This record gives sequence, structure tokens and C-alpha cells, in this order.
Amino acid sequence: MAKMWAGRTGGITEKLADDFNSSIRFDSKMYREDITGSIAHAKMLSKCGIIENSDADALIAGLEGILSDIDNGILDFDPDCEDIHMFVEQVLTERIGDVGKKLHTARSRNDQVALDLRMYLRSRTDEMIEKATALVNAYTEKAEEYKSAIMPGYTHLQRAQPITFGHHLMAYAMMLLRDIDRLRDCRKRMNVSPIGCCALAGTTYNTDRFYEAELLGFDGITLNSLDGVSDRDFSVELMSNIALIMMHLSRFSEELILWSSWEFKFIELSDSYTTGSSIMPQKKNPDMAELVRGKTGRVYGDLITLLTALKGLPLAYNKDMQEDKECVFDSVETVIMCLDITKGMIETMKAIPENMLKAAQKGFINATDLADYLVKKGMPFRQAYKISGGIVADCIKNGQVLETLPLSEYKKYSDVFEEDLYNEIDLKTCVEKRISVGGTSVASVEAQIKYVKEILAK
Ligand code: ARG
Repeated sequence: MAKMWAGRTGGITEKLADDFNSSIRFDSKMYREDITGSIAHAKMLSKCGIIENSDADALIAGLEGILSDIDNGILDFDPDCEDIHMFVEQVLTERIGDVGKKLHTARSRNDQVALDLRMYLRSRTDEMIEKATALVNAYTEKAEEYKSAIMPGYTHLQRAQPITFGHHLMAYAMMLLRDIDRLRDCRKRMNVSPIGCCALAGTTYNTDRFYEAELLGFDGITLNSLDGVSDRDFSVELMSNIALIMMHLSRFSEELILWSSWEFKFIELSDSYTTGSSIMPQKKNPDMAELVRGKTGRVYGDLITLLTALKGLPLAYNKDMQEDKECVFDSVETVIMCLDITKGMIETMKAIPENMLKAAQKGFINATDLADYLVKKGMPFRQAYKISGGIVADCIKNGQVLETLPLSEYKKYSDVFEEDLYNEIDLKTCVEKRISVGGTSVASVEAQIKYVKEILAK
């Protein structure tokens, strides 16, 4: 059969070329947006007197019927159709006759596809914001539960200073809060309507782009028709934001994997979020966390796919741009799954505070506090740092730890040392004294939790 666009060419194409050219197998995801957009277009055309009201009524009734039939599984997508836009128009014309052919007045698939994609990603962005918010909640709840569980804080993956598990979890809550903020910000620029840019140059019809944009819930319209049809910044921005979210989830996954290893054993992931080995009976593998970490790579790839597809394109629409969809759909679907999975892992995991504490006790992570003790007694920090370092080195040599080294030994390094030093280097004291804003003390972590909860409540 000749194509709907038969004219300049006979519209007869090779099957191979059709399959290559067709995008319906992935852009059918946007059927709801395509049909909703067309309903608004019909309303605009009749309001502006470009088509008769009765024609608009027929178009709208036909489109509503198609939408509900797809929703109810009565109407299947035709894989031989070029794309979702052609499919809807073709079914509409089959159902309501020639009046269906009036729908495509004063628009083009170029502005239509840009519209559909913005609308589709807008609603998925709302979904991502919701999921990310639920994840922040999960971090916050767990942090509350473990706000006094002492663990080693690391730099260079070397034990550095004592912190609490709650403090560590709240670090991720802060990252996700920024991610939510970025999604909201990106949504603002996404939420302007390109419909009415037409093929590239605008139209001679007396259309009302603002009215159509308003019907579809947009905050405004794109102000240059060439830009309107060729802009995919909103997708790039969204994928950049998703890449950042995935980076955060991947770092957390890496920690879950480390913490659940026998070498650490700081946490126990729930059986419901782990797998066994087909050969090694003792294994409990953190597959979900590993997959989140692994999928981060493909999401980065999605972003690079679109950036690269766009980089050499002259204005305005080029068919290369059809390659904009699979990557962004993949990113969106992947991050949504990963947000859910991460939330599930957090909610069901159990910390093992005894092991965290044990690890914190052996690594001289109170050495900074020993130096601070001397500083508080009047010694300059550099000198105090040197003395404390010397004590640590000797302890390591003699198999001792700071907590049990006798006062008489301490006195050999400085006569400033008194009995009260032991309280000062007690891990609990080390944590409790870090009351600076954002610090690790229970009070500081509680303040962080309160802050996050207030933001979420807004
Ligand atoms: N399927 C196309 C896409 O996704 C729709 C736009 C086609 N426009 C055109 N002039 N061929 O980009």
C-alpha cells in the first residue's frame, strides 16, 4: 500500500527500508500523549475557526475512542505503521472517514513528536520525583533507627574518624534531595509547548499556540519554531540528571556490597533482596546492588548516545532525531527500577552495630581527638598532631591501642596528658562532641533528619 505521505514519491518502499525507518515499536509508548495532544489540536483548530465545530467533535470523539480502545487492549499497534503519529491518524480516518484527514492541519510530525516527548517525559519526571522522595524517606527512617550506631568513617577506604551509621545514611538523603531539585528544575524547561512550530517555519493559519499549550498543561510555548522542532535539550538534561541519580545509587550500592561482605559484615541485606549461588551453598550475593551499579554504565551510555546523535545536526528536524527516544526511555525505566530496588534494600536491611563498633575500635580513629585534647590544653595543633602520630606509631609497634595505653606511657610524650584524656578519646565522646552543623553527633544528625523531613513535607 502507498504511504500516507505518497505524493512527491510514489510512496512504495522496500520492506527492509520500512522496518529500518519505523519507530512504532518504541514510540507507541507515547500513545496517550499523542492522542491527548491531537484532541487539544482539534479543539484549537475549531476555536480558531480553521475547522468546523462539528468536525472537531467528530475528531475528538474518534480520538477518545482510540485512546480507550488502546487502554482496554482492544486496539493493537500496527507494526507496519511508520510511527505512533501515523498509526493514530490512520485508525482515526478508518473509523470516522475523511474528516479524520483534517486533524493534521497546521501541524507537522516534527512539532507533534516534540510535543509528545515533552509530555511523556514530563509525566515520567513526576514519577521519578515521587520515587526519589520515597527513597529519601527510606534513608531518613533508617538513619533515625541507627543515629547512635558508631561505625568507622573512611577516607581512602582507611578508617578515619568515628561517625554514626545514621550520619552516613543521611549523606545519601542529601544527595537525593539535590537530585529531586534538579528534576524539578529540568521539568520547568521541559514544560513549554512546541506544538504549532509545524514543520520548521510556523504556519500561515491563524492558530492559537497559547490556547493549545494551556489545554495541555504547559507553562508556555517555545518562541522560535526552528528551535521548537529541533530542541532536545530537555531530554539531554533529564538524562544528565538521571545519570547523576544513578551515580549516587551506584556509590551506595558499592557500599552495600562492601558492608555485606564477610570482611566488613556491617549489614545484613534481607534474603528478599539477595540471591544464592548455583554451586556454592554458603553464598548470599548482593545481586540487586551489583545490578544497580552495573546499570549505571548503560544509563551513562544513553546520555552519550543522544549527545552524540545531536552534535552534528543542522537545523531543523533530521531523521537522526528519531534516535532520541530509546535512550531516554531506557534511562527513565532503569532509574525508576533502581530507585524502587534501592528503597527496598534499605527498608529491609539490618545493620550490625556490634561489628561496626568493633571495626571502629581497632583503627586509631580517635587519634584526631587525642590531638584535639592537647590543643584544648593549649598546645598548637601541628605539635599536638606530631605527638599523637608518634603515640599511634609506637602503639602499632607494641600491639597496643590508645584506649588502654597507661597514663604513665602518655606522660612520656607530654606531661600535659592527664586521666581525663581517656574520656576524650572514648569513641562515644568523639561522636557526641562533633556537634558542628552537619556533623556526626546524634544532635547534628537529628537536625539533618528534621531538615530533610521539613523539605519533604513541602
Ligand atoms: N517518528 C519520527 C520521530 O520519532 C517522527 C517525526 C517524523 N518527521 C519526519 N519529518 N519524518 O522523529
